[in-house]
Amino acid sequence: MAEKKPLVVVTRKLPEGIERELRESFDAHLNLDDTPMDAARMKAAVAQADVLVPTVTDRLGSEIIAAAGPQLRLIANFGVGFNHIDIKAATARGISVTNTPGVLTDATADIGMTLMLAVTRRAIEGAKLLAEGKFTGWCPTWMMGVGLRGRKLGIVGMGRIGEAMARRSRAFGMEIHYYNRRRISPDVEQELDATHWTTLDAMLPEMDIVSINCPYTAETYHLFSAARLALMKPSCYLINTARGEIVDEAALAAALESGRLAGAGLDVFEREPKVEPKLLALSNVALLPHLGSSTIEARTGMGKKGIANIAAFVAGGPLPDCVSPP
Ligand code: DGY
Repeated sequence: MAEKKPLVVVTRKLPEGIERELRESFDAHLNLDDTPMDAARMKAAVAQADVLVPTVTDRLGSEIIAAAGPQLRLIANFGVGFNHIDIKAATARGISVTNTPGVLTDATADIGMTLMLAVTRRAIEGAKLLAEGKFTGWCPTWMMGVGLRGRKLGIVGMGRIGEAMARRSRAFGMEIHYYNRRRISPDVEQELDATHWTTLDAMLPEMDIVSINCPYTAETYHLFSAARLALMKPSCYLINTARGEIVDEAALAAALESGRLAGAGLDVFEREPKVEPKLLALSNVALLPHLGSSTIEARTGMGKKGIANIAAFVAGGPLPDCVSPP
């Protein structure tokens, strides 16, 4: 008799090839119309699933975890960030949590560079003016931005994505600085000619552009508070491709509005999908709708990582990308 396949509940629509592979390998319950699950649907899902595959748009707090049936043993998150999952509650229930590191590094760093170029060269602002019929011809002093060569980039969080930002920025002639709990290897530091700062507050006033690439945790909530934003030079730009909650969005909008900061490039927001209305009204911002990992390569890679984690779980082996304590 064929062995019973584990019931894998997927909370959002995934790339076609990944859904096909999930169907072939597991008893996969897919969300073909992609309607985000409300709390009631999520509770019903965790009550019956052996494995849950959520995404960043799901909130898996202690109340949802408490509704899990005893058969739920794995949450295989489709995404690298897992701040939306109560890891402590899951661990207490014996549920492992995995993520998908590595496969979205390039895509996210590319979006970071897109934002950096867009905001410093006023690309979105210019495109809007053009669409509004306000381009009246080339002018020697119109819409001047700032160049990247020789500018100091301060990377907050020098993990995979931070390092990928550093490599790209080096190619643009930028000077690399970083703030990270752990110092990167001397070889990489030397290769990138990167300067390590032991305190964020010391680094911020010296930077021309700051890129946020750290995970969102209890410690990084509003790391960029009004007080920290005030440490940055008025000519400084802030780029965030990590998580919106790391920045006090209202304080950032106020700083940009008053000219206390030159500009911001944001792919993530504090209350997604809501965006602080003041930010939307500003011209010195480049705002994108959380596109960091949205390439076919990255999303397929994320799906494949998820499947590899589920397969390892089914085989009873170690989970390749486990982020919860064993
Ligand atoms: C992640 O994987 O955490 C990203 O934010 C999704 O794009």
